[in-house]
Amino acid sequence: MEISYSTECRDIDWNLVAKILETVGMSHHRPDIHRKAFEASHTTIFARCRGRLIGFGRAISDGQYQAALYDCAVLPEFQGQGVGSAIIGRIVEHLSHCNIILYASPGKEQFYQGHGFARMKTGMALFLEMQSKREHGFIE
Ligand SMILES: CC(C)(COP(=O)(O)OP(=O)(O)OC[C@H]1O[C@@H](n2cnc3c(N)ncnc32)[C@H](O)[C@@H]1OP(=O)(O)O)[C@@H](O)C(=O)NCCC(=O)NCCS
Repeated sequence: MEISYSTECRDIDWNLVAKILETVGMSHHRPDIHRKAFEASHTTIFARCRGRLIGFGRAISDGQYQAALYDCAVLPEFQGQGVGSAIIGRIVEHLSHCNIILYASPGKEQFYQGHGFARMKTGMALFLEMQSKREHGFIE
């Protein structure tokens, strides 16, 4: 199975981005909202199999010393084959001069630990929907 990786937001089907996020159970929005979020990001990676979008990830950053990783997702039928690792690896490499933070979906912490990330002891968040995030295990 040949997977190709690109960084360009051109020619991305944003309906599919929203659909993939929904499929894997992550927060999803209107397609044009995702387009704006990815286009405003510092680093974006898209994975394709025979031209079909199968996964992606992005990081926002000042480009100097701080970055945060979001929206890393791989279609279920392509998970467990190294695609997520390749996406994270590319983002981390591109931002190797920065601190990188993220909040993992509950249960996905090990995946990130495998890429050198460690649990934060003082992480704080002001989410738009605090109660929902609490119910889903993101915050105390
Ligand atoms: C998390 C996700 C991006 C990983 O992508 P993937 O392509 O399945 O990951 P890989 O195949 O590159 O796996 C890399 C390693 O992480 C491990 N791993 C993957 N998912 C894991 C999980 N949920 N828990 C523990 N380890 C996990 C794999 O076993 C593999 O280990 P190995 O290198 O020792 O074999 C993908 O499973 C996904 O999209 N999940 C749903 C969305 C999601 O939760 N995204 C993360 C938001 S924080």
